[in-house]
Amino acid sequence: MAIDFSKTLIAPSVLAADFTRVGEQVRAVEAAGADWIHLDVMDGHFVDNISFGPAFCAAVAKAVSLPADVHLMIERPGHYLDRFLPTARNVTLHVEAGEGHLAETLRRIRAAGCTAGISLRPGTPFAAVEPYLDQIDLLLVMTVEPGFGGQSFQPEMLGKIETAAAERARRGLAFHIQVDGGISAPQAKLCVAAGANVLVAGTSVFGKPDYAEAIRALRFEH
Ligand code: DX5
Ligand code: ZN
Repeated sequence: MAIDFSKTLIAPSVLAADFTRVGEQVRAVEAAGADWIHLDVMDGHFVDNISFGPAFCAAVAKAVSLPADVHLMIERPGHYLDRFLPTARNVTLHVEAGEGHLAETLRRIRAAGCTAGISLRPGTPFAAVEPYLDQIDLLLVMTVEPGFGGQSFQPEMLGKIETAAAERARRGLAFHIQVDGGISAPQAKLCVAAGANVLVAGTSVFGKPDYAEAIRALRFEH
């Protein structure tokens, strides 16, 4: 899969949107130049929060033509996968999910025509995802503890991004490196310099009055 890593992709996270008018807001970020819509699914077990499920994701995805990037912060991604596949362009599961048989779930995601992602919490070492690098299209390096938007970026994650980019090059693999959590313009610059090419942004887009300006700032275009 030929991925153009040179373009920084911006994926606004709906978690930070106003749920009373989420359709209007995702159409606005689409018009403002967003590349993907990031959907943070939380089950109250894998993370200490409950966000939304397949029906909400399907409704949001229908409101825009942008790819739906589904981030499953849930214990049983394999069990619930089929309910997200019709909506998603990308599905990312967590390497720490207690369900197991992650390689089989990654295979099912790709078999459905979606791209497959794997994510790791800040406390999980990069080594945990090494066995999966040749089975993914996206690696999501969490830059905050998953569960809540509006947290502060953890700069010590930059080393993990660099390690992932170096390993990708060493093995001649091709997967996006995505970051999620506390990403505003300064952090975007650091993460892109370290090797990330997809930026999830909740507060730094939906928390701003001008979405186009917020997105340009993340691409450090002026
Ligand atoms: C954490 C969530 C957040 C959200 C983005 O589980 O995944 O990272 O998407 O949050 P902010 O508001 O920090 O961009
Ligand atoms: Zn996310």
